[in-house]
Amino acid sequence: MSTPSRSGVFGQGPNRLVEQFTESVSFDHRLYAQDVAGSIAHSQMLAANGIIAAEEQQQIEQRLLEIRAEIEAGNFELRSDLEDIHMHIEQALIDRLADVGRKLHSGRSRNDQVATDFRLWVRDAIDGIDAKLVELQRAFVSRCDRDAEVILPGYTHLQRAQPVLAPHYWLAYCEKFERDRQRLRDCRRRVNVSTLGTAALAGTSLPIDREDVARRLGFEGVSANSIDSSSDRDFVLETAFALSLIAVHLSTLAEEWVLWSTVEFNFITLPQEFCTGSSIMPQKINPDVMELIRGKTARVVGNLQALLVLVKGLPLAYNRDLQEDKPQLFDSVDTVAACLEIAAPLVRGAELNRESIAAGLDRGYLDATTFMEYLIRRNIPQRTAHHLVGQLVRKAMDERVSLAELPLSDYQAAHADLDEGVYDVLGVDKAIDAFVSYGSTASVEVAKQVEHWKMKLNTTE
Ligand code: ARG
Repeated sequence: MSTPSRSGVFGQGPNRLVEQFTESVSFDHRLYAQDVAGSIAHSQMLAANGIIAAEEQQQIEQRLLEIRAEIEAGNFELRSDLEDIHMHIEQALIDRLADVGRKLHSGRSRNDQVATDFRLWVRDAIDGIDAKLVELQRAFVSRCDRDAEVILPGYTHLQRAQPVLAPHYWLAYCEKFERDRQRLRDCRRRVNVSTLGTAALAGTSLPIDREDVARRLGFEGVSANSIDSSSDRDFVLETAFALSLIAVHLSTLAEEWVLWSTVEFNFITLPQEFCTGSSIMPQKINPDVMELIRGKTARVVGNLQALLVLVKGLPLAYNRDLQEDKPQLFDSVDTVAACLEIAAPLVRGAELNRESIAAGLDRGYLDATTFMEYLIRRNIPQRTAHHLVGQLVRKAMDERVSLAELPLSDYQAAHADLDEGVYDVLGVDKAIDAFVSYGSTASVEVAKQVEHWKMKLNTTE
């Protein structure tokens, strides 16, 4: 049987198993709108350059729009004998326009067509993810005023380290997601290049105008080497990487909030509507959404891995292996989009358990480092001060008290120069007041950062 992809060279149709095994329409049907857009632009260029007649182009365009509407209305049948969405749309056009439809594929191949359609799809996907990242950033910023006065214990190695202001914590996530946005933006520049007209691998002998098609599709330029661009999937891989890093950042948040919502930490109460129960333990309020955000990261990172392995060792130029790039990237985009979408309201709706956090702040010697820095300001060498504060912390630990609860005699025994002034810098509140450096948790610095983010995200919250 003759289909657009099987020329007269074949004496027989394909084995049924081959059809099923090689099809991609079951997943690349998602490219239908991009395929129609690409074909319309291509047909316009063909007409502008005298390769098809203007009237033929109009018929093609009209029919393509009709086909797109049918797909959107669910009135378009996907057939097992047509490999992908590109063949489906072309065959539907031929069914309607006969020879005029048979002209559309002049000067292009499915190799460049697939690459172009996928670039268009990825471009949109990047924009969609970017908008969701902004929503999540806004959710964090919306917490900043609400939690302005809250001091949290900051951790390193998951051991109590130094006190930090809650907004400083929230903005740490804004920064991470901002770099994710930058990565996507940068990646988008390389995605947004037209490969249409590079044809199978060598270009075409027809007088096409690649710049013209690129302009019509909103691409910023055309790829320079047909061998490279008909086979290049860098744009897929780097998008998959950018998505992996977003997932990893989300996973950090998820892990942290799963911990924070335990009885052991008791730092945060997740909104009940975002929690789940247990079928056996009636008391349970589980953070399943956060766990799944963490869990789904595995899929996204796995997809990146699969894509890297997919392209490893492929000779130039197009190889059918490349068809396998779509399920992975579709899944990564869908998964990250879903995680971002649910993370934003969850971040907005969670409540810090202020009393419980405050009650624990005198544990863990969070003021030890700023006290050491007080000693440095008193001209005690850092290494000496470090050792000396360590000894005082040991003493306080043994006596089960905080540094502020040690008597002055202990301080003077540690260093003769010390006086009542030590109590001006001990305790978590005073430690917070002591910070001054740019980017630190100093109240003034944090307030400036909150303002910066409000302006940047154009939010009045
Ligand atoms: N379904 C294929 C894909 O998505 C179309 C490419 C066909 N090209 C080819 N030379 N067989 O990659």
